[in-house]
Amino acid sequence: MNTRTPLIAGNWKMYKTNAEAVETAGRLVELVAGTSDVDIMITPVFTAIDPVCTVVKGSRVGLGAQNLYWEKEGAYTGEISADMLVSAGCQYVIIGHSERRQYFGETDETVNKKIGAAITANLIPVFCIGETEAERESGNTFSVLDKQVKDGLKEKVVEDIGSLVIAYEPVWAIGTGKTATSDQAQETHKYIRSLIDGVFGTALADSVRILYGGSVKPANVAELMAMPDIDGALVGGASLDAESFSRIVKF
Ligand code: 13P
Repeated sequence: MNTRTPLIAGNWKMYKTNAEAVETAGRLVELVAGTSDVDIMITPVFTAIDPVCTVVKGSRVGLGAQNLYWEKEGAYTGEISADMLVSAGCQYVIIGHSERRQYFGETDETVNKKIGAAITANLIPVFCIGETEAERESGNTFSVLDKQVKDGLKEKVVEDIGSLVIAYEPVWAIGTGKTATSDQAQETHKYIRSLIDGVFGTALADSVRILYGGSVKPANVAELMAMPDIDGALVGGASLDAESFSRIVKF
């Protein structure tokens, strides 16, 4: 039995206007009011963070963003810093999501800088890794994860990365309805924990929360959460509806 508090996180991606985000967040706050022993987090689009913050303040629901830029401030048109996210009420930030790697040129190097900036600002980074279908089929899953973890976490800028959260999201399971089986996910999570053990030692390996992401639904969450190395879920589609997300929270 481990002492890690499960984290159920919703990645809202580029969905919901401010009015829609506020409505969903408000409904979620009501639905999860009685829960305990689980951390909950949602990530609206940047423009909805402030109004959603007003709704979730003082509730069971934590707030995060989907990206940041690593500089503190400056002439970087269109970017948002870690301190700005904190000032808007965020406690978490998703970093290195596969969609950002695929469509926006995110690399292990930029991910590394963003994780450093998040930790310096006391934001909890939700560091995303995962292999593509071709990488899994060619037997390279572990070597891909090895590189993503080691390069993403190299030169950590502060000693304490105890708050780190890793999200393992096999790219082939995102938005496809294909979920890794709980045994497949457990095997991979166990491998990721052993990587952390090798690089940072047993204390961090024991405390780091490793979430599973990729077509998590109310119907499959319990089986995944029963696995010893699965500490939560990063949920896309099923987090957009407060009712279905609350059922995942209550796995
Ligand atoms: P789905 O739950 O829609 O497959 O998305 C997963 C994801 O990308 C969460 O970050």
